[in-house]
Amino acid sequence: MIRTHTCGELRKEHAGQEVTLAGWVQNRRDHGGVMFIDLRDRYGLTQIKLDLDKSEVLELGQHVRNEWVLKVTGKVLERPEDMYNPKMITGQIELDVDSFEVISRSEVIPFETDEYSKAGEEIRMRYRYLDLRRPQMQRNFEVRHKAIAAIRKVMDEQGFLEIETPILGKSTPEGARDYLVPSRVHHGEYYALPQSPQIFKQILMVGGCDRYYQIARCFRDEDLRADRQPEFTQFDLEMSFAEPDDIFAIIENCMAEAFKAGIGAEVKGPFERMDYAAAIRDYGCDKPDLRFDMKLSEITDLVTECGFKVFSAVAASGGVIKALVAKGCQENYSRKDLDGLHEVIKCHGAKGLAWIKILPGGEYNGAPVKFFEKEQLDAIAARTGATEGDIMMFMADTAHIVNNSLATLRNKWGEMENLYKKDDFHFVWITDFPLFEWSEEHNRWESSHHPFTMIHPEDADQLLGAENKKGGNLGGIRSTSYDLVLNGVELASGSVRIHDSEIQAKIFSLLGISEEEAKERFGFFIDALKYGTPPHAGIAPGVDRMVAMMLGYDNIREVIAFPKNQKAMDLMTGAPAGVDEKQLRDLAIQNVAIQQPKKDA
Ligand code: AMO
Ligand code: AMP
Repeated sequence: MIRTHTCGELRKEHAGQEVTLAGWVQNRRDHGGVMFIDLRDRYGLTQIKLDLDKSEVLELGQHVRNEWVLKVTGKVLERPEDMYNPKMITGQIELDVDSFEVISRSEVIPFETDEYSKAGEEIRMRYRYLDLRRPQMQRNFEVRHKAIAAIRKVMDEQGFLEIETPILGKSTPEGARDYLVPSRVHHGEYYALPQSPQIFKQILMVGGCDRYYQIARCFRDEDLRADRQPEFTQFDLEMSFAEPDDIFAIIENCMAEAFKAGIGAEVKGPFERMDYAAAIRDYGCDKPDLRFDMKLSEITDLVTECGFKVFSAVAASGGVIKALVAKGCQENYSRKDLDGLHEVIKCHGAKGLAWIKILPGGEYNGAPVKFFEKEQLDAIAARTGATEGDIMMFMADTAHIVNNSLATLRNKWGEMENLYKKDDFHFVWITDFPLFEWSEEHNRWESSHHPFTMIHPEDADQLLGAENKKGGNLGGIRSTSYDLVLNGVELASGSVRIHDSEIQAKIFSLLGISEEEAKERFGFFIDALKYGTPPHAGIAPGVDRMVAMMLGYDNIREVIAFPKNQKAMDLMTGAPAGVDEKQLRDLAIQNVAIQQPKKDA
């Protein structure tokens, strides 16, 4: 190494030693006869001092600019105690430079690389190598590394084998659009990049591997959001002869170790469990943020006969009326504030939000009050748990709109009222998702998770004679599946798998995947199931989401070294980009873009 120590290493115990450091110039402060430079590397900052009594060194120092790379040799000096800088880990010392060498220069940088940098997203992506130099980014990748290393350690101890699965593969039914790679050898044929290793990991179970895991790259061509990237990383695992409890125990162990290693947080299992139906009933969504209470309550039966048409009409047409109670908030929200909340839920198709305050003394206040008898209002308050000083907020509509709207409102309320601590980690297992969900777009039932998910044993009979048509009973069939939810975010999804080729074929046929199509798309997989398949189950936490949550980010780009922007572009390399004619000829591809998409950030 051309250095003897790192820029984060020297303490007062090193005083008097002759050392060599190498790193980047963070800043330079010229005080006439003496100059200070903060030299930075991944490990920290060290103040180096260039003194007038070594004039050639000081002269050289005049030319140095931010982000130049220097090698400096000198003596470690303990600072006088009143000059200690408690903000720097090396704040007890400075380096009195005897000689230095400019290793490389830097052009003027487009943004500062310190922790106060306020550079915009686009410029950070374009100059990602400079962005990565910022201490916060260095910490992000250290946390990510430590979390993954902790997971690998647990998995090794538990007897899991890390096995790689192909990147060039065949399309898998994970629900998103595939990224395709044309074959040069077989013109007109394509590999698909894996949306997840799902089929391969199941085949590994058929192959007797028993316990598999992989820190796996997945590719999905879907619309991007803050918590979605076109390529992302899963901590993917599969276990033979396992039941959901076994998967839960492994993941709880991994989460505890990963959070401890990553950020020093104590996460304790066993995590709470809630079935899907209860989550929807009490929180309106399948990823409830359980850092705060505030459950929904249904009051449909209490308002079917009331004079408030907004409620009675919805009840008569088979809709539902649910309420959310804001505890102790009645004084803090005016009529205008409360009416304004409609904006928050409009995106779900909510037509309005009715509210009733309970004033001190028990008097009810709000637009719907005049349509109710006092006893009716008392019954509603009793059902919702509202008491003096609270606000009851009501939505009437289809169950779908009511649940989505109130779930959003609940999250908004938690944020506005600071009902939780940002660094509180509340995990919950959501179980027994519906096996199928209705697709308005395709006008048929589709797999909620993926088509390899096992039916819930209590609902198995319902598959007999089932048909894929609107209405029907498919919506009521549960699966043996589970999500891990953390603070309102889906962190992981998994299930017990179908290990019987007949049931698997039945599911494909129910999904409208013909025998021929199933054979064509996953014939190899159905065949594999016929050769002695162990029961198996698995799960895949999203690594990017997990690390982003550890660090308190909403956007997973902060924990991915080279992410894509909102339009799936890598602004640093310029991908995606055109290729030359020869490459296309080799692939027998002609560029016949129907409409060239505009390429701007
Ligand atoms: P699923 O599709 O639910 O399940 O994905 C599992 C987890 O992966 C993360 N994730 C993503 N992270 C970033 N960007 C994306 N575009 C993205 N998509 C998904 C989420 C999610 O919970 N094969 C199954 C798992 C199994 O059944 O074992 C699967 O992929 O955190
Ligand atoms: P309106 O009679 O339409 O003026 O509505 C009276 C109150 O009921 C207003 O506060 C509306 O926001 C609210 N409201 C309207 N539609 C709904 C609905 N579907 N669910 C809950 N409240 C509603």
